[in-house]
Amino acid sequence: MHPRTTIAEAGRHAGETVQIAGWLYNLRKSGKIVFPILRDGTGLMQCVAVKSALPEALFETIKDLTQESSIVVTGKVRADQRAAGGYELDVEDIQVIQRVPESDPYPITPKEHGIEFLMDHRHLWLRSQRQHAILRVRHEAIRAVRDYFDSHGFTLVDTPIFTPAACEGTTTLFEVNYFEDAKAYLTQSGQLYNEATAMAFGKVYCFGPTFRAEKSKTRRHLTEFWMVEPEMAYADLEEVKRVAEEMVVFIVGRVLENRREELRVLERDVSKLEAVQAPFPRMTYDDAVKILQSKGSEIEWGGDFGGTDETLLSEDFDRPLMVDRYPTEIKAFYMQPDPGRPEVAMGVDVLAPEGYGEIIGGGQRIHDPELLLRRLEEHQLPKEAFDWYLDLRKYGTVPHGGFGMGIERCVAWLCGLEHVRETIAFPRMLYRLRP
Ligand code: 4AD
Ligand code: MG
Repeated sequence: MHPRTTIAEAGRHAGETVQIAGWLYNLRKSGKIVFPILRDGTGLMQCVAVKSALPEALFETIKDLTQESSIVVTGKVRADQRAAGGYELDVEDIQVIQRVPESDPYPITPKEHGIEFLMDHRHLWLRSQRQHAILRVRHEAIRAVRDYFDSHGFTLVDTPIFTPAACEGTTTLFEVNYFEDAKAYLTQSGQLYNEATAMAFGKVYCFGPTFRAEKSKTRRHLTEFWMVEPEMAYADLEEVKRVAEEMVVFIVGRVLENRREELRVLERDVSKLEAVQAPFPRMTYDDAVKILQSKGSEIEWGGDFGGTDETLLSEDFDRPLMVDRYPTEIKAFYMQPDPGRPEVAMGVDVLAPEGYGEIIGGGQRIHDPELLLRRLEEHQLPKEAFDWYLDLRKYGTVPHGGFGMGIERCVAWLCGLEHVRETIAFPRMLYRLRP
């Protein structure tokens, strides 16, 4: 028996005969030699099968292999400067686990397919090089996020998916039947629960799926997305901004450090990512509106930024832009109004460069019980559902804050993608619930 290895590890076995289990990515034929390209989830490797060196039946079998057939290749690892990963495999044997029949071939071929076709075949499309690279960058970003918080004194406390009340407005709630007469909603954000756990642990984060019944069909919206949300007791807006900045710089650094090859596959201009260093530019909403107006936007003070506005704002910077103090009116009920100017809230959005728009939203929360009660009423939210949340302001209330970053928007930016739908294995959108 020869040792089993992977394509990523094959280099350690140069000169040895090994076994690699995977799938046939592609097959090139050139007379008496065939070149099966093997894919095993860790990379691609060119194999070389020479007719004169193999039993005739085996060579014929290899020559007739079809795309995505599952195979176990036995061969000798040979260093080759010209090969993609630096090594090739000289085939000694191939065991065919399943040969994909010509009568029903693998549907995704090297030719161009439309996006709807690819989305319908998402379960297979994930095997393609670009999709594979994107999800590896996503994994790296998630690992960086966790490492960042784990090494900065934050405790991971995950929050529930079924919730009795809204967090980010009532218009994007997914309602579910929760036994007899009860209604529940899929969570829009773990923030409210994080505020409770922050009072228990000081600094916490949650990281899980969140849901928004977004009727918008933009390139930035999913109905199910993953959000990382830190929350800190005794923290103000400035501290929230500092942590957001430090975290983003850390994530970008990690991706540049560990995912160069994937970024190359994606043809990402890495110099754009290398520019992402602290300090990020900061501006107020007031100034942002003035800049937008000077650039011809229709925005008036009091309005929310559209995607185009966000692009116009960030185009002057080579790194993320932090905009704070939005009008209280357009922000969530829990946002702390600026004490000197209650018409603006102590909230911040982080806008990614290159037109990627908002990747982070957060800020300081109301810690005064009376004010919070008033805001719940103004927003017509049911007090009963928030009794526990109000308790947090009765028993040792403190200034606190945090933020949420949607992983998909962040990854779309890191990878330089047009749409967030490719940043998650199985995207959920207005018109897509399959596969
Ligand atoms: O700005 P949002 O709505 O803020 C909150 O949910 C706060 N409760 C977070 C907090 O302070 N703990 O959402 C935060 C981020 C956005 O900046 C964006 O990255 C992402 O979540 N996001 C979405 N991503 C994909 N599809 C959607 N429909 C998204 N909605 C928000
Ligand atoms: Mg927001």
